[in-house]
Amino acid sequence: MRRAARTVVAVLATTATLSFVAQPVQAHPQTKTLRSAAPRDLRIGTAVAGGGHHVEHSYPDPFTYDRPYRKVLAKEFNSVSPENQMKWEFIHPERNKYNFGPADAIVKFARQHGQAVRGHTLLWHSQNPAWLNEGTFTKAELRSILKSHIFTVVGRYRGQIQQWDVANEIFNENGEYRQENIWIRELGPGIVADAFRWAHQADPRAQLFLNDYGVEWPGVKVDAYETLAKELLAQRVPLHGFASQAHLSMRYGAPDQLAGVLQRFDDLGLKTAITELDVRMDLPEGGVPTAEQLTTQASYYKTALDACLAVDDCNSFTIWGFTDKYSWVPVFFPAEGAATVMFEDFTKKPAYYTLRDTLARARR
Ligand code: G3I
Repeated sequence: MRRAARTVVAVLATTATLSFVAQPVQAHPQTKTLRSAAPRDLRIGTAVAGGGHHVEHSYPDPFTYDRPYRKVLAKEFNSVSPENQMKWEFIHPERNKYNFGPADAIVKFARQHGQAVRGHTLLWHSQNPAWLNEGTFTKAELRSILKSHIFTVVGRYRGQIQQWDVANEIFNENGEYRQENIWIRELGPGIVADAFRWAHQADPRAQLFLNDYGVEWPGVKVDAYETLAKELLAQRVPLHGFASQAHLSMRYGAPDQLAGVLQRFDDLGLKTAITELDVRMDLPEGGVPTAEQLTTQASYYKTALDACLAVDDCNSFTIWGFTDKYSWVPVFFPAEGAATVMFEDFTKKPAYYTLRDTLARARR
């Protein structure tokens, strides 16, 4: 299937360099949503809004209370990623207390709607609870805290998580291990291999991933991941995949080398995935994107999807939220926004239709 898709992409690229403006695929019942249009071996996912920046807003928890939101979530996607609800600060707020309710609700929703779940995340420098960041622990205690967290959380959802982002953002822009990462700083980089081993023991069927941003173009960060992946595989560590988050900005250009990056990891025998795609832009005065901006944004989304379609074992394509109503982008980048495929009222942008048409063509 994926080889066929690759041929389609290649043909489109040669016969119509601007394949992005190709004729829309005729509305067929099977191609009405992203999930129904997608090739059978490709999951189409979204982050499930909750926690994180949402806590600072006046609206109630989006996943729990926004019924139109839940309807679109169920209809359009066959994979979901808890945006914050499985992160340490959220799911493990006190040393001896876990808060599983919100994550349980997402996993249940996914089961009811035939969706896979991407677990996010187990070993990260950010969004760790105060008790961990500010506590005083021996190395042995820290190691045991991480091991016990992984066995508890991964074990709870055993058999229900398709892919886990085991190690998230472990390298900085220079390709060095991030010293802000408490686990790496205190226990050394070897802890990454242990995290994969523990996750695999806790759920042998889950596919275990390295996940990061800033790896959409070749460079030292991608090199660092390739070296690490080779080392882990040589040590028979259960590493199964490499994922590009793909938080894009129209300031920096389309991800036109992403397929090549993913292919390097596919060549190692790993699965690949796009896990957090969004495309932010500088908003004009008034905050409404121009038609031209929306067209450019759609082309970036398409380039990222084409990259995944072009690589055999890229089986999961996830956007980081589907509506601007709940996007993290304006919180972090105040001048930028409109990064998702739907406006705040869930009306669809050109990016949505471009993704759907591209998926439908690849499915044939
Ligand atoms: O923890 C502080 C708290 O001390 C402070 O008082 C409060 C007031 O501003 O902010 C709290 O931080 C918030 C944080 O979540 C922790 O809950 C940030 O403001 C808030 O913006 C943040 O948002 C989340 C962000 O991860 C944190 O890094 C977003 O909701 C979430 O979408 C985003 O997701 C990440 C992926 O997990 C990994 N890849 C990048 C992606 C985008 O940043």
